[in-house]
Amino acid sequence: MKSRNYSTGGPFHHIPVMLNEVLDTLALRGGNVYVDGTFGAGGHSKGILDSCKCNLLAVDRDKKSIEIAQELKKEYDDRIELHNQSFSQLPYIIDNTPYKKIDGLLLDLGISSLQLDNPDRGFSFQKDGPLDMRMGSQSFTAADILNKIREDDLAMIIRELGEERHSKLVARKICEYRKNTKIISTYQLNEIIEKSIGWSYKKQKGKHIHPSTRTFQAIRIFINQELEELILVLSRIAKYINSEGRIVIITFHSIEDRIVKNIFSDLTGQNRAISRYQPENSNENEKLFIYPIKKFLKPTDSEILMNPRSRSAKLRCIERTKSAFRENLDIYSTNKYEQILSEFR
Ligand SMILES: C[S@@+](CC[C@H](N)C(=O)[O-])C[C@H]1O[C@@H](n2cnc3c(N)ncnc32)[C@H](O)[C@@H]1O
Repeated sequence: MKSRNYSTGGPFHHIPVMLNEVLDTLALRGGNVYVDGTFGAGGHSKGILDSCKCNLLAVDRDKKSIEIAQELKKEYDDRIELHNQSFSQLPYIIDNTPYKKIDGLLLDLGISSLQLDNPDRGFSFQKDGPLDMRMGSQSFTAADILNKIREDDLAMIIRELGEERHSKLVARKICEYRKNTKIISTYQLNEIIEKSIGWSYKKQKGKHIHPSTRTFQAIRIFINQELEELILVLSRIAKYINSEGRIVIITFHSIEDRIVKNIFSDLTGQNRAISRYQPENSNENEKLFIYPIKKFLKPTDSEILMNPRSRSAKLRCIERTKSAFRENLDIYSTNKYEQILSEFR
């Protein structure tokens, strides 16, 4: 495996996670068209563009990322096209290009160091800032939600999207606090969480997870509809991938990894019972996708040492076969949190 290194993002450095593995599993070839659906600070995009004479559609819902991408545009000119949109919109983006189909899609999920390290974005409990947490241009912030949402809805979100065992207690304390004082900052929220469940995390010796990690993660995923975005793109993208094209996804927590694993199982015909993508006669040659690598890849120990943020990463990959695409169905429901969100619109 060739070793490449890129740190991008100007003053807020972002080191692309599993860069070598991404470039290798995408099986890049000159003349092909690739999509980086999570451009971030452009580390992976730069790696792709430097690997061969291919074309790249760079997509990010964050305006700041697309501003950074202007630098790459100067360098790679007409080989890179920028789109300040959500990756769930990829079918429309690809339909509007002359290519109509692509040879590979990369999604490196979650937030970038640019977003996490900037206190004004409100993603980090370690930096004081406005409780914002928006990746793109949604109309409501984390503060809007936290000061209004029903206690039982909040507890459900913290339990399901953060896997926080004490979700009910955290939700109750947040709702009690906001009766007297509006919650507007990351430090305020961090303090409420630490006071309510800090004791439980002190008891878990050896595990270095901060009491606020799970609740902040849950609220971020909810605000940005991260699971809905992932489900939408994966259930619509298959027919846009040329044969031998690959989908490569890096996840950072078990909730999104489970979604990727399940939908990949459907697309490769492993979940026989529920797959509606599979051609009726599903012999090996008619599968829409196959697994070119076994299960998933993890970062090497030396990468984790150099970039601790990579430690929870898992890379999964599937490859499009030559089988004809017969169905175009959005088979997964994304309505679960939609109703709660609609009350804030
Ligand atoms: C982990 S970072 C990607 C870092 C990037 N691979 C690099 O090397 O710099 C994730 C990026 O994806 C973006 N993002 C997350 N969800 C998105 C979505 N649904 N649509 C478009 N961009 C999204 C975030 O705004 C963030 O910039």
